[in-house]
Amino acid sequence: MNKERELEKLKEEMMADAKLPFKSNLVFGEGNVGAKVLFIGEAPGREEDRLIRPFVGRSGKLLDKLFASLGWERGDVYITNIVKRRPPENRDPSLREISAYKSYLSKQIEIIDPKLIVTLGRFSLNYFLPEAKISRDHGKLFCIDGRYIYPLFHPAAALRSPERMGSALKKSFKRIPAIIKKVEKMKNL
Ligand code: URA
Repeated sequence: MNKERELEKLKEEMMADAKLPFKSNLVFGEGNVGAKVLFIGEAPGREEDRLIRPFVGRSGKLLDKLFASLGWERGDVYITNIVKRRPPENRDPSLREISAYKSYLSKQIEIIDPKLIVTLGRFSLNYFLPEAKISRDHGKLFCIDGRYIYPLFHPAAALRSPERMGSALKKSFKRIPAIIKKVEKMKNL
């Protein structure tokens, strides 16, 4: 089975799973299934729920600019979230809600099998590294169970604090191509 078909099957399984938290639209993720880089955010917001696509609101517009700064488009990467339905009132997802989506996200990662996972924000970082702190660990490269994780600030945080988090996000984002090269070298690819 090819990756598109496998992901489609996974999405159908999720749609049929009545135990998954929240009633909003299922925003599964989108992009290039053969991408080297997988971006993982927290959960869909209002615009994402409305359009059933990840990162299409204000944070998404910033993400698009960051892709453009590398000469990339969003179709060059794959984008998803740890929680795939919008929590009510945009509240933070609980640990129980995050863990309800866990097996599906693991499968999605396994299918896409990216060289590098870029986590956006603390929820996504703590999904892989529960003890990590975004303020301390953003822009560092980690290897967890054979997967390379590069944590960055969430674009929404960068919009709230352009001076500090915005410039840090921009700087760390610029390094993604070099980080990919480094990972490929370490993996001897
Ligand atoms: N914030 C996220 O974490 N994910 C989205 O898809 C949109 C905003």
